[in-house]
Amino acid sequence: MSKTKPSSRAKRPSSEAKRSSPAASFLILAAGLGKRMKSPLPKVLHEICGEPMLVALLRSLAGARADAEIGVIVGHGREKVEAAVRAAVAANPALGKLRIAFLVQSEQKGTGHAVREAMATEWGRERVESGAPVVVLPGDTPLVPSALVEAVSAPLEKKAALRLLTCTLAEPKGYGRIVRAGGKGTGAVLRIVEEKDASPKERAIREVGVSVYAFDSAFLAASLPKLTTKNAQGEYYLTDLVGMAAKAKKKIATLGWANAEDLRGVNDLWELSQVERTLQLRIVEAHARAGVRFLDPYSVAIEAGVAIGEGVKIHRGVVLRGSTAIGHGVDIGSNTVLRSVKVGDLVEFKAGCYAENSIVEDGAKVGPYAHLRPESHVGRQAKIGNFVELKKATIGEQTSIAHLSYVGDAKIGARVNIGCGFITCNFDGRVKNGVRKHVTVIGDDCFIGSDVQMVAPVEIGKGAYVASGSTITKNVEADALAIARARQENKAGYASRLRQMSEKE
Ligand code: UD1
Ligand code: CA
Repeated sequence: MSKTKPSSRAKRPSSEAKRSSPAASFLILAAGLGKRMKSPLPKVLHEICGEPMLVALLRSLAGARADAEIGVIVGHGREKVEAAVRAAVAANPALGKLRIAFLVQSEQKGTGHAVREAMATEWGRERVESGAPVVVLPGDTPLVPSALVEAVSAPLEKKAALRLLTCTLAEPKGYGRIVRAGGKGTGAVLRIVEEKDASPKERAIREVGVSVYAFDSAFLAASLPKLTTKNAQGEYYLTDLVGMAAKAKKKIATLGWANAEDLRGVNDLWELSQVERTLQLRIVEAHARAGVRFLDPYSVAIEAGVAIGEGVKIHRGVVLRGSTAIGHGVDIGSNTVLRSVKVGDLVEFKAGCYAENSIVEDGAKVGPYAHLRPESHVGRQAKIGNFVELKKATIGEQTSIAHLSYVGDAKIGARVNIGCGFITCNFDGRVKNGVRKHVTVIGDDCFIGSDVQMVAPVEIGKGAYVASGSTITKNVEADALAIARARQENKAGYASRLRQMSEKE
């Protein structure tokens, strides 16, 4: 993965910059219809690696400036967008200091219209009064790194109307092309032409605009009212401000960004999966470099919020989601899926496990094909074997449930051995005082034979034995042996008599 840094073309604002000027504010374009997504969800809420695109962008912003002043322009699906941002801020301490305002674009008439409406609000007027530059970012470009945010939001060059971020793409289709004087791609920027308005010659230009700009707020406020809809899409184009600045002979600073992958926009579901693939590889690479072994880095899905310790081995097709946190030296078998699971050190998940909102302590062994439903807690060095389902169950240290069992609403002590085919019967078909499920408690050091059912509520005292094939309906005291099955009777010679009878018929 190449490092993200401005290319040699980038003009870093240095001595020229007004050092004393107030810090830039940010405007995020997130009101659009996202028609090309062909999806009912607002575009910016589509997830990449487990979080909405807009939230990924906010994290990058917070990485550059933890207390950034941000106006999020909302419109289409605004309630959903606002709710998602609020939820992300509440859940993610790194976003906690951002000062976020939601600014409403009542109708979606283009990117220029969105910024015009935003700047007409109280929030916008305050920006103009403060004289701080306004950095515009598109909400549909989630891989923008913090370093880029820092570079674009540096104080504006003296007398510049704006700083324009550009990028050169092998496939510029769909992006606004940067038209420069002299036609060789080296002269001063004259304007941006949108794909739909471009001549064939202009379409051949590979330098593009990516909806990232830092505007002098006075220029912005003075120019936005002059935008028109005289173009192929009948929209107010924010890109037209570039041509306006050039015509008025105002200074346009440019910042070239070398890593095109950072600036990939998402307009449809294919582009979403492309961008997600890029982010996925970046996440996997970061873990690998931090000491995680991936047997097939291209087959796994690791969400952004997952933490993984050193010396962990991850086999093909593993999916780690949500707030999953894995300790050191863990081995995760093929096609295992963990969602918000806390895993201690030296745990082993064999192939094909599914676990959710659960805890697995150090040295436990799980699977193959085990199912840990929410609120399961597997103790140190416990063993949960194949086709075992846990739900709201606490399993003590070194306890073994090795085969084909259902353990729900249960509290099982340490060093318990549970045979094959054990079932907690936690539901009696009735809901009483809001209680649906009953609890099974098994004390430490018990031995539970195979094919045992426990009809809850029921409690087995410490060190008790339960014979195979028992259906336990009453509590068992400590150290007792419980047998609850029909007594066996052997009838001598009965089998051959049966055979003779069937031959005569
Ligand atoms: C825009 C740029 C184009 C650039 C490209 C990639 C314009 C006219 N074109 O095109 O030069 O190469 O982005 O970055 O600016 N939005 C609103 N309100 C609206 C319309 C859009 O908030 O009325 C938001 C969208 O939610 C989106 C962003 O603005 O986050 C960009 O809109 P989109 O329709 O994706 O523009 P592009 O066609 O990609
Ligand atoms: Ca776009």
